[in-house]
Amino acid sequence: MKHKSTDRTKDDASHADSRGRRRFLATTTALAATLAGGLTDLWGDEGREPGAPMRPYGERSPFEKVARKSSRPGPLSGTGSTLTPLESLYGIITPSALHFERHHSGVPTIDPDKHELLIHGLVEKPLVFKMDEIKRFPSVSRIHFLECSGGSAGEYQGDPAPTPQQTAGLFSCSEWTGVPLSMLMREAGVKPSAKWVLAEGGDASRNARSIPMEKVMDDVLVAYGQNGEAVRPEQGYPIRLIVPGWEGNINVKWLQRLHVLDQPAMTRDESADYDDLLANGKSYRFSFVMEAKSIVTRPAGGQHLAGPGAYEITGLAWSGRARVAGVEVSTDGGKNWLKTELQQPVLKNAAVRFRLPWNWDGNEAVIGSRCTDESGYVQPTHEQIIAARGTHARFHYNGIKWWRLQKSGELTYA
Ligand code: MTE
Repeated sequence: MKHKSTDRTKDDASHADSRGRRRFLATTTALAATLAGGLTDLWGDEGREPGAPMRPYGERSPFEKVARKSSRPGPLSGTGSTLTPLESLYGIITPSALHFERHHSGVPTIDPDKHELLIHGLVEKPLVFKMDEIKRFPSVSRIHFLECSGGSAGEYQGDPAPTPQQTAGLFSCSEWTGVPLSMLMREAGVKPSAKWVLAEGGDASRNARSIPMEKVMDDVLVAYGQNGEAVRPEQGYPIRLIVPGWEGNINVKWLQRLHVLDQPAMTRDESADYDDLLANGKSYRFSFVMEAKSIVTRPAGGQHLAGPGAYEITGLAWSGRARVAGVEVSTDGGKNWLKTELQQPVLKNAAVRFRLPWNWDGNEAVIGSRCTDESGYVQPTHEQIIAARGTHARFHYNGIKWWRLQKSGELTYA
């Protein structure tokens, strides 16, 4: 089809696209020809015996082996973290069984019939809720990402991780169902002097964080549902806080107490930890927002391309400040950037899947992505982060991550 356009970028993209498609078709024709020889076997009686019985609770195919991985060498323990295998996910939802975990004192076993949530402090009426009472409030379901602010921490010290899972796997995205915290607060009657809410977990670590009242009354959820079923034990069963777009640690799991205060409680988790130590020895405190970040998940480190030809470059982007406005991909280490297609819907504080058809010519390539959000914030380079924060920081790393594709098809970090 003749194509007339004055837009060079569009023209180049569509040529690349049609070239890519022609090449892709050539590959599939070869594949189809190979299959034709084996068709008689496929249509025979083999494998037509009745299959396995149904099961009350589903499991994935025994051929699927994708798994979470410990962030540290050695066997999994109760305390520490596991990483989501981002390179193996499709779409934007993380299957609950692959949601990353970060526990300070293991996963408690909590009987929902015995669990209670206390709201006290600067309220007209202190309240204790049982789980079935919480579920009687009008609920909402929303898709939100969760990222530990310790994600990609090794990159600060110039220790680049080799795969998407290992660099950015402290990130997951689920559909959360719960009751807006503002509703429970109104029930208790917040006093005018109340400015912060201390949320405390029921695990041995008693992870506790202070949340400003504006955020509490805006979009925080007391979640009991995750991807259509009860929140998983590892994610905070029977209830956890979801604080959209804010660092993972403040999303308190196994929630048992909300103390309404006129100032932050300055707990260990918000004073000795989870602050950003700068090069001059001072720290950013209460840096809650997870800024715009993205990562190419395929083709990426740890993978291998079969040879030159058509591929899809894809990955995930997110921002805790504003909706993702766009994601660009570069295959030459940042000299040129191409606009990617964003999978719809693009939701605030949710993961966004980006895609770009690409024809690999067989030469070395350096592949990375850059996210911009609707506030105008642009994901920084590694060098820009180090210039701004130095190398003592351990939290909130969101630099552009590069993968080096060698002529052999091997992919490593760049
Ligand atoms: N809440 C409690 N009660 N105990 C914890 O150890 N870990 C926090 C937060 N909430 C934690 C907690 C941290 S550091 C993170 S990053 C997130 O939970 C991780 O949530 P996830 O394990 O569901 O991925």
